Amino acid sequence: MCGIIGYVGGAPAIPVLLAGLKRLEYRGYDSAGFALQRGNELVALKSVGKVARLAEKTRDTWSSEAQRTPCTGIAHTRWATHGSPTEPNAHPHFAEGGGIALVHNGIIENYRAIRTRLEAKGHVFVSETDTEALARLIGECHRGDLRAAVIAALRQIEGAYGIAVLSRDEPGVIVAARKGSPLVIGVGEGESLVASDPAAIIAHTRRVIYLDDGDVARITADHVDIIDLDEARIDRAVGVLGFAAEAVEKGGYEHFMLKEIHEQPEALRNALRGRLDLPQGTAVLAGMGASPRDLAEIRRIILLGCGTSLHAGQVGEHAFCDLAGVPAGVQLAAEFRYRNPLVDPSDLVIAISQSGETADTLAAVREAREKGAVVLGLVNVVGSAIARETGRGVYLHAGPEISVASTKAFTCQVAVLLQMALRLGRGRRLSRERGIEIAAELARLPELVGAVLAREADIAAIAQRFIGREHAFYLGRGPMHAVALEGALKLKEISYIHAEGYHAAELKHGPIALLTPGTPVVVLANRSSVRDKVWGNAEECRARGSCIIAVVTEGDEAPGADEVLRIPACDPLVATIPAAVALQLLAYYVARLRGCPIDQPRNLAKSVTVE
Ligand code: M6R
Repeated sequence: MCGIIGYVGGAPAIPVLLAGLKRLEYRGYDSAGFALQRGNELVALKSVGKVARLAEKTRDTWSSEAQRTPCTGIAHTRWATHGSPTEPNAHPHFAEGGGIALVHNGIIENYRAIRTRLEAKGHVFVSETDTEALARLIGECHRGDLRAAVIAALRQIEGAYGIAVLSRDEPGVIVAARKGSPLVIGVGEGESLVASDPAAIIAHTRRVIYLDDGDVARITADHVDIIDLDEARIDRAVGVLGFAAEAVEKGGYEHFMLKEIHEQPEALRNALRGRLDLPQGTAVLAGMGASPRDLAEIRRIILLGCGTSLHAGQVGEHAFCDLAGVPAGVQLAAEFRYRNPLVDPSDLVIAISQSGETADTLAAVREAREKGAVVLGLVNVVGSAIARETGRGVYLHAGPEISVASTKAFTCQVAVLLQMALRLGRGRRLSRERGIEIAAELARLPELVGAVLAREADIAAIAQRFIGREHAFYLGRGPMHAVALEGALKLKEISYIHAEGYHAAELKHGPIALLTPGTPVVVLANRSSVRDKVWGNAEECRARGSCIIAVVTEGDEAPGADEVLRIPACDPLVATIPAAVALQLLAYYVARLRGCPIDQPRNLAKSVTVE
């Protein structure tokens, strides 16, 4: 969703800000803008559409020499919430007749009341946004000290924010604050940066300070000073980012999605590294943070997530039941807190999120904690809101995922959930022999996924079957039902073909009415106890003239299938991962044939920070 980058130092800010905004594009946005502190004035530029448009406008507005003038600046990509994507609604927003500029991520919940109050005092708003209310409130509180004004305004705010603020009267200073919306400060040599996402600053420095909720930082080129809303001093350690600038580059691939699909053997290696105990047939996940006795006392597992993370949870549900014998259920994070859920201290709640920022999942985490459950985070982004709020959990170590369509995060989520189930199972009913078998299968994951990637050309050819089609079905049973849902989601979001993931047995209870000759039906019919049943369901579709694309185990027949996609033989729970990779490639090549903007599909954002 929205993105922030700010720069203070001896270099010209414009190229740094535009490059930072480019890096934030993957989050999804519909307008962009920046403000610069030059001499004793603030100047700004905004545009609707892509950052490239803003860059073009910059070239039309300033000579190349003017663009190279060193200055301080803040910039923003906006994903419209309050008010449509127009220039007046784009950030920065201003106060004091242009003397203060603000960029903001998050939502100011009490902005209407603030706006009404300020309008009564004579303020004339120029946008429909909640952010302008905050900008003007800061202006109202300003008595010469920008940070003091920001604090005074934030004390009156309800909602979530990550902000960066400039004042024309304080050259070389950015004030940044957060509550619920992430901000990271980059500590460079004679320069500092602030961003909503480390990807925007990694090209400058790997030394970072993560702000926590309630922090208000005064940032200059060589100093970062943090206090809280009560003006008490806060010490935050400088950390080092765990990835290099190349991790957020395409590295020769046409799209981030393709790169991230190909990174999966390595990502899985990282998600498994040091965790599998092959001789004991178990997994060691320090982040679970509980003694064997605590783990043995868990009576129920609740898995929470949204979108792809929810689908990973569905695989986890099967694994916890099958391997650990613990009743487990996946719940839509968006519904959780509105159902007055029954949760108690013997429940283990696992919140699954790539970004660690998803508003619905975060709200569900808070609800579960309030009700006394043990909550674990299964998160990719280090230091993200969910990782912090849960306090304990297991990182995926998948590396930065830039493409909006989640790929490597999904497979690493499943790999970690399977390890968790193995760990819990070994403390309960799972025999050492069976544990050793499962652990050995998990250790093969990089190789299993590598074998699917080696078939990329075959999968790309199968994508032709979707040309001219507006609907497709994905069918699976057991844990493969979750993969069917995930395969359909991938196809929908990047190729804009309507796709339904369905339980194979449920199709005949309604949706079969939609099948017409040639409708692509992807059938997940790998080797498992229900393979013959799934084939039966595929036959029902074939009898109606559908195009059957069968995902089968290497060495198995696929009688009557129009296309066959083979995955290596492995345990049925583990097989969800290579099968998902095959469907990711399929969706990618369909979208490519249709000429879709694969990494940034329309209307979508990478981190969904609104409910
Ligand atoms: O960051 P999260 O895992 O919490 O995100 C949840 C969903 O928004 C996300 O998985 C979304 O469905 C992806 N676009 C799917 O590719």
